[in-house]
Amino acid sequence: MKRLLSLGLLVFCCLAQSGVQVAGQQPATPAPPKPLPKGVMQQKLESCQKLLEALSLNDLPKAADCAQDLIILSQKAEWKVVATPRYKELSNEFRAAAEQVVNQSKAKNADGAALGYLDISMLCFKCHKHMREVRMASR
Ligand code: HEC
Repeated sequence: MKRLLSLGLLVFCCLAQSGVQVAGQQPATPAPPKPLPKGVMQQKLESCQKLLEALSLNDLPKAADCAQDLIILSQKAEWKVVATPRYKELSNEFRAAAEQVVNQSKAKNADGAALGYLDISMLCFKCHKHMREVRMASR
């Protein structure tokens, strides 16, 4: 079950991302915003998958650790790919959602932590959608 969930998320994330890639590969696209280094991207996906696994197993201490990793990643310089106000806003919301997971996990509130996780996943998609819009606008 947990394998299936992780796999589902992986496919989900890959699909979301392939949309971003396709938009970036249109022939007439001018220089796209500088891509996020592979390391940070890979770690973001991994921490998110580990977080889902931890929450699925009700391992709240591990969930808090994974969410903390996401906060740290979101503070790295490499995270700031475009300078739009919306990108900054979404990054702040992402951090707030990850903080919710940390706090609720520490308070042993599994439901609260799960809700924070849902917010995090929505923000993955919202931000990637924003990136597609930024690309469209720069044509
Ligand atoms: C605030 C914005 C933002 C949020 C939130 C965000 N991402 Fe991203 N993500 C990006 C940007 C920017 C890129 C690079 C896109 C590009 O340049 O084409 C990216 C790329 C990726 C990639 C592609 C990696 C590769 O090798 O090409 C993956 C996977 C990814 N994100 C996963 C996630 C996951 C999982 C989440 C949620 C836990 C998430 N992202 C949340 C901005 C964000």
